[in-house]
Amino acid sequence: MSDDDRLMHHEYDGIHEYDNPLPFWWKGIFLVTIAYAAAYFVWYHLGGPGLTEEERYAADLRELEAVRAAAPAQAIVVDEDTLASMAKDPGVVERGHGVYAKNCASCHSDKGQGLVGPNLTDTFQIHGTSRLDVYTTIQNGVPEKGMLSWGPVLPPDELAAVAAFVTTLRGTDVPGGKAAEGRNVDRFQ
Ligand code: HEC
Repeated sequence: MSDDDRLMHHEYDGIHEYDNPLPFWWKGIFLVTIAYAAAYFVWYHLGGPGLTEEERYAADLRELEAVRAAAPAQAIVVDEDTLASMAKDPGVVERGHGVYAKNCASCHSDKGQGLVGPNLTDTFQIHGTSRLDVYTTIQNGVPEKGMLSWGPVLPPDELAAVAAFVTTLRGTDVPGGKAAEGRNVDRFQ
């Protein structure tokens, strides 16, 4: 195209103007941004499925509330009766045995006959008398004697399972066990 062809037809005070169109790719991008803005407006502001920041925040909050509302149902209530019935459930005892082998056997020996920690297979108990006392001792530990607090370490279901497992050891009197410590509290019924 010669320069003359690019001249536009008007002229003001002897000044001519070129027809100088923007490159096609530039116009393309411009059109895309317009289309994008229109789609964006429909998507987020005219009832489309897009959620604004505020709506997303509100949705997240609702999700959190739902999780919190469901939480108490999942929490394990540990009392004497639940521990007693858990100790009769082979699945739970097996699970507790696994937790025991991993975390406790180093001090209480593989069968609970005692090493650094007391013998768990006799009928003597240092702390309290009940299943719940066993659970509480495991949960809170006896830090000054070298027994860790397992409450913050183990998940609640594992803590309860290992306590149930330990109660099944009482009175099994594994040979070669550590000498009795504490009071004679008899077997669990
Ligand atoms: C680092 C060694 C160590 C480890 C590991 C350990 N214990 Fe102990 N445990 C002890 C000692 C020591 C005592 C005695 C505390 C005392 O004399 O008051 C004890 C006490 C206990 C008692 C109370 C016994 C009683 O007669 O009242 C129970 C139950 C018990 N441990 C269970 C566990 C369980 C279950 C685990 C694993 C989750 C575990 N222990 C891990 C050292 C340990």
